[in-house]
Amino acid sequence: MMVALWYRICTYHRIGEMEGREDRPIEKGQQLLSIRDLKTEFKLKDGTSLRAVDGINLDIETGEIHGLVGESGCGKTVTSLSILNLIQPPGFISNGEIIWNGNNLLALTKREMRLIRGREIAMIFQNPQASLNPLYSIGDQLISVMKLHRHLSKNEAYKEAFKLLKVVKIPDPKSRINDYPHQLSGGMCQRAMIAMTIACKPKLLIADEPTAALDVTIQAQILELLLELRERFQMSMLLISHDMGVVANMCDRISVMYLGRIVEESDTENLYSEPKHPYTQALLKSVPVPIPSKKGQFSSLKGDMPSSIDIPTGCRFRTRCPMVFDRCVKEPDLIKINSNGTRVACWLYESKLNQKYKVY
Ligand SMILES: Nc1ncnc2c1ncn2[C@@H]1O[C@H](COP(=O)(O)OP(=O)(O)OP(=O)(O)O)[C@@H](O)[C@H]1O
Ligand code: SF4
Ligand SMILES: [Mg+2]
Repeated sequence: MMVALWYRICTYHRIGEMEGREDRPIEKGQQLLSIRDLKTEFKLKDGTSLRAVDGINLDIETGEIHGLVGESGCGKTVTSLSILNLIQPPGFISNGEIIWNGNNLLALTKREMRLIRGREIAMIFQNPQASLNPLYSIGDQLISVMKLHRHLSKNEAYKEAFKLLKVVKIPDPKSRINDYPHQLSGGMCQRAMIAMTIACKPKLLIADEPTAALDVTIQAQILELLLELRERFQMSMLLISHDMGVVANMCDRISVMYLGRIVEESDTENLYSEPKHPYTQALLKSVPVPIPSKKGQFSSLKGDMPSSIDIPTGCRFRTRCPMVFDRCVKEPDLIKINSNGTRVACWLYESKLNQKYKVY
């Protein structure tokens, strides 16, 4: 059985039967977002800097759900904040391009970027409770988003807010619209947050650990809702998670990140059936498998990820890699190793360097 099925934690129903489907014509498989050699650093008090994101390349196509996975601290959130140009001092983007609709987002003015943020690219932040304003009801927060981005009157915005709460399946939206964030459960807060992000029907939704703080049943409902909304609004998605089960079920392609770099990128099926990079292999082995015949077949990843302040020289995974050999003292490039478009940064695939595939 395909390995991906091991991680199937619930069945997601692809939509088609949902009422009110939006008709945004979309050509699947077109380049939507392209990140090139992105480097994001944080200045430290001693004058040195910490490289949180260290030269990543990532492409997202129209209609795609692209997963970004890796251990805590590997740079997932910093990558997503960099896309929206939301890195605050002492952080700064020191290199790279983020191409959106033919424009480099990093070269836009603050005003130009504000027009894209929320309207074309929206983000669900890692902690929904902290992202909602505790002083305003969720209705008021939705109304102000729609007045700002869609220039609706208060009355129109109220009607839209009510509709959106229904779309994200908040029970009893008529009374919930007046609730404050502290009156909502974690799952409902996440639904309200999702309502806010889809208010402007963005083309790309960045979801940073959208279910991390939720229990398993609510987690499945939120993921199912995201899949429904992706179909309904024809959105692409960058789904950030450290949960290999979540991305297996949701994503078309996956990038695996380690210590600020992408070490493997592949379509989901290939990544789970034939993981190439030793880190990806270790990540998959460390997922407990709820199948009795596979009992005892998982193992935890050796050691901790080194600090971003003290990145090992050479391959940055070499301090934990079971396959390390003398070549690994030099850092490998991310190279395309097959016609499926799988890219791996590991010297074990060095012979592929001499083949026709592009190095990037
Ligand atoms: N404001 C900041 N100041 C200094 N360092 C930071 C700051 N924000 C992030 N970092 C560092 O950048 C690195 C990447 O952090 P990031 O939040 O992107 O990790 P992550 O992969 O999202 O982790 P998690 O899964 O825990 O959310 C970490 O070493 C982190 O300590
Ligand atoms: S380059 Fe070497 S240390 Fe790095 S993942 Fe490959 S085998 Fe392991
Ligand atoms: Mg994070």
